Amino acid sequence: MRLRYSDVTPEKVYLSRRELMAGAIALAAVGCDLGADATAAPTPTGAPLKATPNAAYRVQDAPTKFDAATTYNNFYEFGVNKEDPARLGQSLKPRPWHVQVDGLCAKPRTFDIEEILKLAPLEERIYSLRCVEAWSMVIPWIGYPLAALLKPVEPRPGAKYVEFTTLKDPEQFPGQKPGFFGGTLDWPYTEGLRLDEAMHPLTLLTVGMYGQVLPNQNGAPVRVVIPWKYGFKSAKSIVRIRLTDTEPKTAWNKAAPQEYGFYSNVNPTVDHPRWSQGTERRIGEFRRRTTLMFNGYADQVASLYTGMDLKKNY
Ligand code: MTE
Repeated sequence: MRLRYSDVTPEKVYLSRRELMAGAIALAAVGCDLGADATAAPTPTGAPLKATPNAAYRVQDAPTKFDAATTYNNFYEFGVNKEDPARLGQSLKPRPWHVQVDGLCAKPRTFDIEEILKLAPLEERIYSLRCVEAWSMVIPWIGYPLAALLKPVEPRPGAKYVEFTTLKDPEQFPGQKPGFFGGTLDWPYTEGLRLDEAMHPLTLLTVGMYGQVLPNQNGAPVRVVIPWKYGFKSAKSIVRIRLTDTEPKTAWNKAAPQEYGFYSNVNPTVDHPRWSQGTERRIGEFRRRTTLMFNGYADQVASLYTGMDLKKNY
């Protein structure tokens, strides 16, 4: 049987040691104001990256602590535990790095990471990230709309989808080594979007967070962030973006098709077969929150799905 998220990390069991510590602090603070301690972001320690805050894309909730966003990660290339990516992440070499953009387009091109950093003005956008495992964070990302990378390659009229591929290199990603404990995803990790989703202004090609370059564990040097979809759609450490006329096969859909659909829009009315999607645990908070349709981005994205049965297209 193949790996499934909660075969490894069931929601009630997967609290990492850090989370247990955070939980203990939260428990100790019941009755006090949790907000300040739970959400204040300490100064990042990585290389700084300048970006202009974009007030149009800024959720009102306070950002999750930098420490939590960089130590509680899903990045199965480093292992299945939340703390593995931070612990093992230094084996990933984010330079030199290239991203091949090809498939159904007039001007296929390979971009060097330094070119990518300069292709469009870097913006800071504060998005909420909702994982399919029913936890969430609020993260100040740095990047620009993916459309700015796709337009120069001139997608052909037949292009209907975009496929993202993460680097495959067992030397850099220990989780890709044959026999690695729990490592049963079909590498490389792939994800996909419809082309109109990929071109949507919210879809962010992301190179940094919290005012610094992306830490390895968060998908250095370049990833995507699609805030109205479950977090696993936001592929990390991307080396290829392919335009295609057919719906791409995606890593989690291949592993458990009945649990992880191609669309994977955040939807509190469509439960995961093994748990409710109606509420979520915001990392750093004590009480569960109600999950919002399209993760709170319904005004901006609902029209992409007009007439679609979102229970069928989960
Ligand atoms: N991308 C790759 N290549 N491998 C992964 O395991 N995990 C996904 C997504 N992108 C994953 C990935 C999941 S399940 C989530 S919730 C987010 O990354 C987590 O992003 P974060 O660690 O920056 O919060």
